[in-house]
Amino acid sequence: MKRLLSVLAAVLFTFAVAGSANAGAGPKTVVLKAPMGNVTFNHWAHQKKVKSCTKCHHKGMQKCSKCHNPNNKSMPADYNSMKKACHKACIGCHKKMGGPTSCMKCHKRK
Ligand code: HEC
Ligand code: HEC
Ligand code: HEC
Ligand code: HEC
Repeated sequence: MKRLLSVLAAVLFTFAVAGSANAGAGPKTVVLKAPMGNVTFNHWAHQKKVKSCTKCHHKGMQKCSKCHNPNNKSMPADYNSMKKACHKACIGCHKKMGGPTSCMKCHKRK
C-alpha cells in the first residue's frame, strides 16, 4: 500500500510538472506552412520568453490566418496575408529581443 501511494504521488508530480510547462494551454509547436519552406514555431518556448499572450494574440486566441488573409477585405493591405502579418510580428520582435531574422533560420526546406 505504501509503495502504491508513493507511485501515485510520483505520477501526480509528473503531471503537475508537465502541466506547468504548458502554462495557459497554448500548443507546443505550430507548423506554419509556406512554399518558401515551412516555419516551425516553438510556441511553448515563446510563451515562456514573451510571457504575455496578448503581445501576439492581439485579437483573442485564434489562428492569425482567420483575419490575416487576402479574402478579408476589411483588413488594411499592409497586413492582408500571413507573410505580412508574421514578418512584422515575428521579425519585428526578434530585432528588439534578439531572435532569428535571416530567412533560412525560420523557413526550413526538407
Ligand atoms: C522569424 C521568422 C521568419 C523569418 C526570419 C522570415 N520569415 Fe518568411 N514567413 C514567416 C512566417 C511565419 C510566414 C507565414 C507562413 C504562413 O503562411 O502561415 C512567412 C511567410 C513567407 C512567405 C509567403 C509564403 C511563401 O512561402 O510563399 C514568403 C515568400 C517569405 N515568408 C519569404 C521570406 C524571406 C525571403 C525571408 C528573408 C528575407 C523571410 N521570409 C524571413 C516567418 C519568417
Ligand atoms: C510570440 C507570439 C505568441 C505568444 C506570446 C503566444 N502565442 Fe499562441 N500562437 C502564436 C501563433 C503564431 C500561433 C499560430 C496561429 C496560426 O496557426 O495562425 C498560435 C496559436 C495558438 C493557439 C491555437 C489556435 C488555433 O485555433 O489553432 C492557442 C490556443 C494559443 N496560441 C494560445 C496561446 C496562449 C494561451 C498564450 C499565452 C500563454 C499564447 N498563445 C502566447 C503566437 C503566440
Ligand atoms: C480577429 C482578427 C485578427 C486576428 C485573429 C489576428 N489579427 Fe492581427 N490584425 C487584425 C487587424 C484588424 C489589424 C489592423 C490593425 C488593428 O486594427 O489593430 C491587425 C494588425 C496586425 C499587425 C500590425 C500591427 C501594427 O502595429 O502595425 C500585426 C503585426 C498582426 N496583426 C499580427 C497578428 C498575429 C501574429 C496574429 C496571430 C497570433 C494576429 N495578428 C491575429 C486582426 C486580427
Ligand atoms: C514578442 C517577441 C517575439 C515574437 C512576436 C516572436 N518571437 Fe521568435 N523569438 C523571440 C525570442 C526572444 C527568441 C529567443 C532568442 C534567443 O534566445 O536566442 C526567439 C526565437 C525564435 C526562434 C529560434 C529558436 C526557436 O525557438 O526555435 C525561431 C525559429 C522563432 N523565434 C520563430 C518565430 C516566429 C515564426 C514568430 C512569429 C510567428 C516569432 N518567432 C515571434 C521573441 C519573439
